Amino acid sequence: MNVARFRLRAGGRRQLWRAEAIKRIVVDAFGPAAVHAFDRHYCLFSGRRLVAFAAVQDRIVLLDGKEAAMGLVGSVTTEKSQRGGGLGRMLMEFLIDREGEAGRRLVLNCGEKVKAFYLKTGFAQIAPKAGYERGGRIEWDDDPVLALGLPPDASYGGVFIGEDF
Ligand SMILES: CC(C)(COP(=O)(O)OP(=O)(O)OC[C@H]1O[C@@H](n2cnc3c(N)ncnc32)[C@H](O)[C@@H]1OP(=O)(O)O)[C@@H](O)C(=O)NCCC(=O)NCCS
Repeated sequence: MNVARFRLRAGGRRQLWRAEAIKRIVVDAFGPAAVHAFDRHYCLFSGRRLVAFAAVQDRIVLLDGKEAAMGLVGSVTTEKSQRGGGLGRMLMEFLIDREGEAGRRLVLNCGEKVKAFYLKTGFAQIAPKAGYERGGRIEWDDDPVLALGLPPDASYGGVFIGEDF
């Protein structure tokens, strides 16, 4: 891979890198309902084109009912034509470095099929299900919850993430 043609960028709410391009890549991967506000975002550009994206929202999550301040990672995607080429990993490693420098612990909820991708970047599974508030109701999804920065033996019955994206 010619690493020189890729550029990594991190931004906050006010420093939005190419908002239209972010919207495009998120909608392509997850649909229009997935466009949401985030506290920090991470972009990988190939030339001027946004080819991978990930976002983090600061949350108080409940680990078996115990409050924990964590960065919720979401909207992780690589442009379809570029998948399988190591870009997702490159972007996640950048995100993990930056979030780690700020002393933040990370959490995410993903489908069983994608879990291997996150495990390869250093995340560990901490719970078999995630709780969300949706339309005033609490619902539990049987999807793994992964985290980075918790003790290696951290294990919970469920993690309540709060409002769904
Ligand atoms: C998941 C996704 C971001 C991975 O991005 P990518 O650029 O294709 O990933 P990479 O090429 O960097 O892969 C890194 C490693 O993870 C593995 N991997 C990638 N996607 C995977 C998947 N869906 N399931 C399992 N492993 C996966 C790769 O095989 C690779 O392993 P290797 O280094 O041992 O060969 C991308 O497939 C995507 O955008 N999917 C659709 C959106 C999505 O589901 N996002 C996750 C929401 S939780």
